[in-house]
Amino acid sequence: MCGIVGAIAQRPVTEILLEGLRRLEYRGYDSAGVAVLNDNNQISRTRALGKVAALTEKLESSPAIGNIGIAHTRWATHGKPAERNAHPHMSNQRVAIVHNGIIENYEELRVELKAKGYNFTSDTDTEVVVHLIEMYLTQGQSLADAVRETIKEVRGAYALGVISIEQPDVLIAARQGSPLVLGLGLGETFIGSDIQAMLPVTSRFIYLENGDFCVIKRDSYEIFDDAGAIVEREIKESNSGMCTAELGKYRHFMHKEIFEQPTAVQSTLEGRLNVNDLKHCVSGDNIIETLEKVEEIQIIACGTSYHAGLIASYWLEDLTDVPCSVEVASEYRYRRRPPRDNVLFVTLSQSGETADTLAALEKVNTDKSMLATLTICNVAESSLTRESDYTLMTLAGPEIGVASTKAFTTQLVALQMLVGLLIQAKGNAPEKVEEIVNNLKKLPILLEQALEKDAEIEKMAEHFIEKHNALFLGRGDQYPVAMEGALKLKEISYIHAEAYPAGELKHGPLALVDSEMPIIAVAPKTGLIEKLKSNLEEVRSRGGVLYIFADKAIAMEEKDNIHVIEMPEVPEMLAPIVYTIPLQLLSYYTAVFKGTDVDKPRNLAKSVTVE
Ligand code: F6R
Repeated sequence: MCGIVGAIAQRPVTEILLEGLRRLEYRGYDSAGVAVLNDNNQISRTRALGKVAALTEKLESSPAIGNIGIAHTRWATHGKPAERNAHPHMSNQRVAIVHNGIIENYEELRVELKAKGYNFTSDTDTEVVVHLIEMYLTQGQSLADAVRETIKEVRGAYALGVISIEQPDVLIAARQGSPLVLGLGLGETFIGSDIQAMLPVTSRFIYLENGDFCVIKRDSYEIFDDAGAIVEREIKESNSGMCTAELGKYRHFMHKEIFEQPTAVQSTLEGRLNVNDLKHCVSGDNIIETLEKVEEIQIIACGTSYHAGLIASYWLEDLTDVPCSVEVASEYRYRRRPPRDNVLFVTLSQSGETADTLAALEKVNTDKSMLATLTICNVAESSLTRESDYTLMTLAGPEIGVASTKAFTTQLVALQMLVGLLIQAKGNAPEKVEEIVNNLKKLPILLEQALEKDAEIEKMAEHFIEKHNALFLGRGDQYPVAMEGALKLKEISYIHAEAYPAGELKHGPLALVDSEMPIIAVAPKTGLIEKLKSNLEEVRSRGGVLYIFADKAIAMEEKDNIHVIEMPEVPEMLAPIVYTIPLQLLSYYTAVFKGTDVDKPRNLAKSVTVE
């Protein structure tokens, strides 16, 4: 998704802006651009289709030098990826803006502005914003007031950075819906979509709230809330450090992050696995008292995080008497559900900024329909963590690859902690909590053992290079694991893949089975293993080619059309976490063989901050 960086300093800012953009590349984008106010008080704008490297090259041959500037990586929503649609957008050489979000009423504004003589040079929704600001400047307003008047007229979501030749010592920032952070340096101030963009220049940040409007100077800033009152926002010190985005010995971040999973899980567990002290995993007051009252759990998430929620629903309903529903956020936010009492509303998210998940949380916060809200999230100080009553952090570290890997497995770990806490709060089966904790202690080693299959899986992936479709099968809590496997294959190798509960095969999908359709099955030793075996026999007897990740107990012989990779023996509740690893590796190597852009697959973004 789009990324914003801005800077006002006593030194040239172009390199700071470019480095900020490089650090936002992980979010996914299709074009990039920079605008600085140069010594002649002119806006010098450079834009390029494609990577930040292409923009850097342009700037090397034609430098833009100035002490105030804004920059952007664009992920197309309105108007195709093209240089003319890249940000910053400008109006009459007087004002330049960068924007993240969507302006919903841009069509009507465009008609009005055209009638007033404004000439549009892009197909974006953003361009109306810059022309409106210019229009108010022409009417004699200050830059701050021109932006204020403009945002009264636009509907939708925005994070904005604005500069103008009329006030070369002022940078304006505003936030509604889309995230924006201020970075405070010594005699210099920055803005960014997230702190990653600014870590090389500062570690002190202010997370702007919805409706915030900032007038930023080199060494001062003022923040106004949505009522126009000056507000103080807390300054947070980050200890994230800068050395996170290194590939090391790996060719892709995705591969590195798959291999980081034992450590990411270990960090998420560190200091938290004391049976008598589990409640300290969660920040927020009186979690046990809240859980005592819970009669139902509603999990909301998108994509991979949604799959983690589905797996957890099996655990929650198996080990507690608390019913659990799981729904994708984009559906939940627009439908009515009959009121229910004492529901714990749980959001799952790597980024904590996913627009649909956040909107679902905002909806229940507004109608106060839930007993409490809890988020399981990987980014401290994200919008979800700030707007939830309780927070359970996954400590996976920054995830750069667009395809989520270590965030998913650490979410599953956090969800097991939540299950343990709920059992404790309800006072039933304390031995189950001990079992969860003891199992989790073994998890990092089991993940290491699963990763030892790397070379075998790389070989297996060769079979998939020419395939156009694939079916993933699992039963019970392995069905969402199969769904996650199918999603990974789709998103990075562009092979169409579907997941089915294996028992559903004969109700339709069996018709697809032939020697061209690879069938991937996850087959740990669970109560359903014999059932799964029968389902796999149905495939075999119809000439299907099977790729099975299996516990020894399945005793499936390796033959021409059956490829088996033996997995370590795992406790049943850890199986979904461990069996995810081979599916991640299979997708990864298939994508590498196919030569796709593994870390930044086409059309996708890391942090989906628009609806
Ligand atoms: C898939 C993937 C996405 C995200 C989804 C939610 O590999 O990464 O499906 O899981 O966009 O993102 P978060 O977890 O940040 O809310």
